[in-house]
Amino acid sequence: MANSCKSLILYLFAIVVFFSQTQVLVTAAKDSRQANTNFVKTKCKVTTYPSLCLKTLIPYASSVKANSTNLCKQALNVATKGARDASTIVSNLKKQKGISQYEAAALKDCIEDVQDAMYELKRAFEAMGHLGDKDKEFQLSNAKTYASAAITDADSCTGGLSDYSKVNPKVMDTINRSMSVIIRLTSNALSLINHLYEY
Ligand SMILES: *[C@@H]1O[C@H](CO)[C@@H](O)[C@H](O)[C@H]1NC(C)=O
Ligand SMILES: *[C@@H]1O[C@H](CO)[C@@H](O)[C@H](O)[C@H]1NC(C)=O
Repeated sequence: MANSCKSLILYLFAIVVFFSQTQVLVTAAKDSRQANTNFVKTKCKVTTYPSLCLKTLIPYASSVKANSTNLCKQALNVATKGARDASTIVSNLKKQKGISQYEAAALKDCIEDVQDAMYELKRAFEAMGHLGDKDKEFQLSNAKTYASAAITDADSCTGGLSDYSKVNPKVMDTINRSMSVIIRLTSNALSLINHLYEY
């Protein structure tokens, strides 16, 4: 009787320990999730478009793990995805009925500009992967140069449409919107790279 009572107590004790441990783990997980989210929120404050930064980067807070380099790389990934989407939109526009020859040529140039921008974003991403190297300052400065070049590429699409009167306003609007997505996402990535070592 005394023994089974003892084992019952031990058993209950084990249950209590188990659940309190689980509670500790759950609380710890919540705290780290909160910390990861707060990290992104703080970092986004330095960007050119903070609300866009929050919207696009909070979803990656847990994989970024409060690491500035990871956050920059993720921002570059998001910009690349934005550029890919823009490229699809512009390509589809080019295939639409009623697109003039002038517009088609302009859109073709734009698609090339977007591809150039994607190439620069890829180079920036790669440079960010070399910050552990001996020449880390050189790599960081390259990352900044490549990200700026991506912005210039997207800008030259809209700037390249020199004779705006020949472009249908609807077409123009779609192009502008698509390029502005690339420019804003890349500006944010560049801000994060510029403030890499600041908290
Ligand atoms: C941050 O992540 C990078 C990989 O992107 C890694 O090389 C670096 O060591 C990490 N930094 C810290 C402080 O954990
Ligand atoms: C598109 O951008 C160009 C150049 O930045 C500007 O001149 C034009 O007014 C814009 N058009 C629209 C429809 O937003």
